[in-house]
Amino acid sequence: MKLDYLTIFPEYLAPLQLSLPGKAIESGLLEIAVHDIRQWAHDRHNTVDDTPYGGGAGMVMKPEPFGEAFDELAIAGATVVVPTPSGRPFTQADAEDLATKDRLVFLCGRYEGIDQRVLDHAASIADVRELSLGDYVLNGGEVAALAITEAVVRLIPGFMGNAESLVEESHQDGLLEYPSYTKPQTWRGHEVPEILRSGNHGAIAAWRLEQRRVRTAERRPDLLSVSELASSESLRPER
Ligand code: ADE
Repeated sequence: MKLDYLTIFPEYLAPLQLSLPGKAIESGLLEIAVHDIRQWAHDRHNTVDDTPYGGGAGMVMKPEPFGEAFDELAIAGATVVVPTPSGRPFTQADAEDLATKDRLVFLCGRYEGIDQRVLDHAASIADVRELSLGDYVLNGGEVAALAITEAVVRLIPGFMGNAESLVEESHQDGLLEYPSYTKPQTWRGHEVPEILRSGNHGAIAAWRLEQRRVRTAERRPDLLSVSELASSESLRPER
């Protein structure tokens, strides 16, 4: 998979070279290119933003540098990901879909956003996804692009050392993950639940499923269907 990032803060994306993506780059599974949008600005000050038409606070990112970047990077046919608080919520299903693409181009906006015509033009030549990490506002798209990248690349076949760990995890099947324990058996007065030490695999699987339902009902009832919610009501511990 080839990943391009357009940003005015290339240093912000330095973590891409670390951790899991770093290994995937070395092995040739991923090709990553971070581009400073200012290289496509032509005035003395490398201006990439201007005041908004219609007035209002803040600055808007100008269209021309993006247009030149699109031409030079030949983004036609790519999947263009635009992290923005006004996008659709980014989900595991989006990550799974993006993991099947050959080329992702991230547009990282700053200030009050990117001139709408950049997105309209991109949509005429590429598949544009405006995605939000959640109902809060970051200073720009870079941190969101990092988060989306990590969620996506770990799903690429051959990327994770242990494919098993992908199967049993939060959001893969709509329930949150069960609590995990390791040694020692007693730590600061807290015990590992007895059932996990029983060796009864059927009982352990049932206990874990119950924990997942209870957790999801408590923390993320929005993830449960009405029928699942009804069955987990009875599992909910007394408070
Ligand atoms: N850029 C700024 N805030 C964001 C958010 N919540 N999600 C994605 N991109 C963003």
